[in-house]
Amino acid sequence: MGRKALLVLGVCSIYPVSRYLRGKENQLAMAQIARSEMPLQIKWQRHGQTRFWLRQGNDRVEAMWASCTHLGCEVSYDSEQDQWVCPCHGSLYNRDGQPVLGPALGPLVRAEVKEKDGFYLLQQPPV
Ligand code: FES
Repeated sequence: MGRKALLVLGVCSIYPVSRYLRGKENQLAMAQIARSEMPLQIKWQRHGQTRFWLRQGNDRVEAMWASCTHLGCEVSYDSEQDQWVCPCHGSLYNRDGQPVLGPALGPLVRAEVKEKDGFYLLQQPPV
């Protein structure tokens, strides 16, 4: 097999894989949670092993998408310190997701949450 044939074969096999991966990246995470399954508190609570976190706000349910705005690592809420922590490069955010220590500069992004028929319907925010 010549060099040119190998090149064509390589390109042909990479294209479907990259297209598949791009398709996966473009899918936004969604979740549906029964209200009875997750009674909300004023502190953030994680839904299972997802990046969705919920809390009872003043007048509505609030949802956070726990991705650091520096490079996208998963952040978690430390209820004792009442702040969000990124394990990758040490960014800290206050309870509302505003950055208090870099390198992250932007706030955490809220997930969309709707209440319908006893369920919370959550969607990852578009990037
Ligand atoms: S990815 Fe969070 S601080 Fe860098």
